[in-house]
Amino acid sequence: MAGDIKRSLESLPGVGEATAEKLREAGYRTVESLAVATVAELREAAEIGETQAKKIISAAREAAEFGSFVTADKILERREKIGLITTGSATLDNLLGGGVETQAITEVFGEFGSGKTQLAHQLCVTVQLPPEQKGLGGKAIYIDTENTFRPERIRDMAIGLAMDPVKALHNIYYIKSYNTDQQLLIAEKAEEKVEEENVRLIIIDSLTSHFRAEYTGRGMLADRQQKLNRHLMTLHRIADLHDLAVFVTNQVQARPDIFFGDPTRPIGGHVVAHSATTRIYLRKSKPPKRIARIFDSPNLPEREAVFTIVEQGIRD
Ligand SMILES: Nc1ncnc2c1ncn2[C@@H]1O[C@H](COP(=O)(O)OP(=O)(O)O)[C@@H](O)[C@H]1O
Ligand SMILES: [Mg+2]
Repeated sequence: MAGDIKRSLESLPGVGEATAEKLREAGYRTVESLAVATVAELREAAEIGETQAKKIISAAREAAEFGSFVTADKILERREKIGLITTGSATLDNLLGGGVETQAITEVFGEFGSGKTQLAHQLCVTVQLPPEQKGLGGKAIYIDTENTFRPERIRDMAIGLAMDPVKALHNIYYIKSYNTDQQLLIAEKAEEKVEEENVRLIIIDSLTSHFRAEYTGRGMLADRQQKLNRHLMTLHRIADLHDLAVFVTNQVQARPDIFFGDPTRPIGGHVVAHSATTRIYLRKSKPPKRIARIFDSPNLPEREAVFTIVEQGIRD
């Protein structure tokens, strides 16, 4: 295991070698992942009894320092370190309070063609800019579930910012995800890359498409939400622990009949809604214009901004 911050599963009381192996096979690779697991999940994953599962979870929570109080000044100190990545559009940055935040999950949702993937591409380029140009001087990971990643767009966008396109492409780690199980594993694997390289942005485009495809029946809703929730917990933890931005897309059907309140029925519904720190709703306007709207942010007003998608990328 890379990095000092990671403790092995075996360091926890109640976790022997065989149990640790089963847990890892089931996707629990870190003490933190055990700290947020439920008793039922662990029992099934490691074929252990309730008492042992409880013991492992509480040991993991203690080791991961989950659930311990900190004073609010420490929270402020941490929040003051939050990095911002420019979207390429000053009005959109302004709407977001300066850009896409680190230590957070930003969800962009909207119908097909609203610009979610373009925005994801753009951030992979702008994250590489130095801080004085509103980047973080870092690399990006791109998890693609829909085969819509286009290196040519990265090249165009890099040229549009007077960056070396070859270097820009070299700083993006691309991986395809074929199903939800794999997507969860990739998110955890991403952490290793993050520890090796200066990754400041993780994209998942789209967060929800595999969940939508695999969990179709009504009776599967609870399973789906639980799994999606686990996935989001992992992403939150990585964002927090490594001070990076997680940016996910979520395709929804446009519903012209409802304009206020929740205009959409996003997959993952309230699980994503309550888990994403900032939610941006995108809709098409007269080309090349797009309209972005902030949804239930803890610290941003619900406003709208207009931006454009052009050859060079996202602009005002
Ligand atoms: N090279 C380009 N130049 C200008 N606009 C582009 C270019 N490539 C894509 N776009 C715009 O982006 C749109 C696709 O947006 P996209 O981000 O793929 O949508 P979503 O991911 O929300 O379905 C296209 O319809 C087009 O308007
Ligand atoms: Mg897309």
